[in-house]
Amino acid sequence: MSSDGGGTLVVGLSIPEIQGTLIQADAAFYDDSALTHLLLYTSSDAAFLLQEARADGFDYITCNLPKSLEPRTDVTSLDSRWWRTSIVGRMETPSMQQMEWAQHMNIPAVLLPEVSPRDVDTCQKIASLALVASASNGQVWIQTRLTEDSINAFDSLHRFCDGASNVGMMLTLDNDVRDVGNDAQTLVARQVVLLHKAIGSQLKAICFPTSVFLTNKRGYPALSKTHQVLFTEVLGRIGKTVRVLLEGPSKHEVGECGKTKCVPYLQYIRHLRQRPEIAQILDSPEASLEEPYLDQLQRPLQPLADQLEFQTYETFEKDPVKYLQYQKAILAVLRNGVATIQGNPSQTRITIMVVGAGRGPLVRVALAAIAELGTPLNFHIYAVEKNPSAVIYLESLARYDASWKNAVTVVHSDMRQLDPHKLGNAQADIVISELLGSFGDNELCPECLDGLIGTGVWKDTTVSIPSSYTAYLAPVSSMKLHSEARAQSFFPAKPTSGGLDSAPMGVQCAMETPYVVRTHAASQTHPEQRCWSFAHPPVKRDKERTCHLVFQPDPTHGAGSGSGYGPYDPALAAIAQSMSTADAGSISVHGLVGSFEAILYSGGGEEITISTRPKSFSVGMFSWFPLYFPLKEPLRVPGGADITCSVWRRTETNSAGSGRVWYEWSARVTDAMGTVLGQTHIHNPNGRSYNVTL
Ligand SMILES: C[S@@+](CC[C@H](N)C(=O)[O-])C[C@H]1O[C@@H](n2cnc3c(N)ncnc32)[C@H](O)[C@@H]1O
Repeated sequence: MSSDGGGTLVVGLSIPEIQGTLIQADAAFYDDSALTHLLLYTSSDAAFLLQEARADGFDYITCNLPKSLEPRTDVTSLDSRWWRTSIVGRMETPSMQQMEWAQHMNIPAVLLPEVSPRDVDTCQKIASLALVASASNGQVWIQTRLTEDSINAFDSLHRFCDGASNVGMMLTLDNDVRDVGNDAQTLVARQVVLLHKAIGSQLKAICFPTSVFLTNKRGYPALSKTHQVLFTEVLGRIGKTVRVLLEGPSKHEVGECGKTKCVPYLQYIRHLRQRPEIAQILDSPEASLEEPYLDQLQRPLQPLADQLEFQTYETFEKDPVKYLQYQKAILAVLRNGVATIQGNPSQTRITIMVVGAGRGPLVRVALAAIAELGTPLNFHIYAVEKNPSAVIYLESLARYDASWKNAVTVVHSDMRQLDPHKLGNAQADIVISELLGSFGDNELCPECLDGLIGTGVWKDTTVSIPSSYTAYLAPVSSMKLHSEARAQSFFPAKPTSGGLDSAPMGVQCAMETPYVVRTHAASQTHPEQRCWSFAHPPVKRDKERTCHLVFQPDPTHGAGSGSGYGPYDPALAAIAQSMSTADAGSISVHGLVGSFEAILYSGGGEEITISTRPKSFSVGMFSWFPLYFPLKEPLRVPGGADITCSVWRRTETNSAGSGRVWYEWSARVTDAMGTVLGQTHIHNPNGRSYNVTL
């Protein structure tokens, strides 16, 4: 069992105390990479059980950790590689002696029963165990049930453990989750909402006791409708990393049961995993491309201050949606806009400027749109780029690509200092740019395009693609992202310039930096709301912005919005809607998740957009992951309470024309009477921890 899962489902089985004789493990049979399914088996003889479980197709087993210094047969018969990959240890109560043995054996995870938050002494012991386990990358999984109290107990324990990244939840879906009579709709809603909370709470494994399986007409095990809905949601959201535990003994000895007698359950779980709707999410080329980025925080790109690499451009250019939308927008402008502005398009030369051209994909789509127009067009394209290395690529295309020759002029310049003489004093009819960041304006598109206006190449009738963009924000619950952000404190403060000698960020700096991240083990807790917009040409010159967004109690805890990345799920949201406000429990918020929507062109009855906000997500587009703004300390939001998030976009320009842009943010929780229940500090005042260079 690798510590963070592969791309495949891991399934497990637990059978209380099977006694068996020792059989030497056949080493050739076991393969470290075959972690397709996880079998959790409980025994004191790991060697015997592991051999049976692997023979039946399971990946690993659980075994009881030794309570004393008594001898056991498996220690002398199993190599270390089996202990460190295929065995999960079980403890009945937190024991340092057992944890030390688990660490000695390199056992990757240890299971512990649920603990009441009132039992502070046990929480203290688990905190100590987690610290010891972390020294060898070991995890501590707490058995949790899909109830408000149980999930809250885990949340509380996790806080006692100071948000330790190796303390995770193993969630048991037991009989309480079955469909029951008239109340089924409300019950499913409640479970869906609780599961959404659990996904943001370090959900590492799902456990199905064999007793929850129903029997189908042919006598085989099958899950109830409710369990299927829940399991489908787990697979769709975190199927790349979650493990599944099957807890025996078998109650369905039918067909080929194998040595464990549990093969029919494994086959059924595999069948659920292999359904096309799940395979489409987990096994697509896009999913494989995304996998290394799941929950991995990255400092946002600064294409203005830094020079992007060849490979970065190449990755952008693979986006199947973004360029198609740009092409549609350019075609629409040519059809609707320019003809009106210029009169007869076949006689007037249309000037198109692609600013921040990179390696030229927007020039390519502009040429494609012109070809698609179907009528002759007198045009010229200027490709403006400040990255000298990218200019070599552009110049090469301009010289050697037949469609570029005579049609495209490359200009090496910062668009804000563009010399109109280099363009033969031509003014732009259409300006095409893609300077958008994960939060819309965070790569300084407003500053760059307004700078371009100042050079005089922009006229009253110039059409900009994009014409406007809007930043969106929502609270997010994610213990994982929070601990990842804290872990950044050990990285150098200035990764681009600093080497081994540069100072680490420190916790304050790490928690006051927004990160680009493919949110995964995360749950957006409310529908996202609009922060602010920028338009080109600008409606107002000021590029500072402020917003205070009140997120009112949402009994669904935003279940339809998933992790804050990807399309909103209306079907799931509709199920969760049956949740009554009175039943809505509390949730922890660990940060804010930012996204954007851009209108590339609006006119002639058409609106062509690209979007990363869940409510209007451009399906298939992968150029932007969300922007995660951490909260230094998580906020607890009780059911019925509001959370108000404030964000400021601040700018500073010095007399030399350079300067910086940064965001500040804070959050406050209030009850229905307006009483403040919790609040954060204002993160990143004066851009002390993070800013973008102009
Ligand atoms: C996000 S990339 C997009 C590149 C390309 N248009 C594409 O779609 O692949 C932004 C590009 O704009 C360039 N850029 C950013 N600010 C600029 C400025 N002020 N003047 C000229 N180029 C700029 C960067 O060097 C980079 O090549």
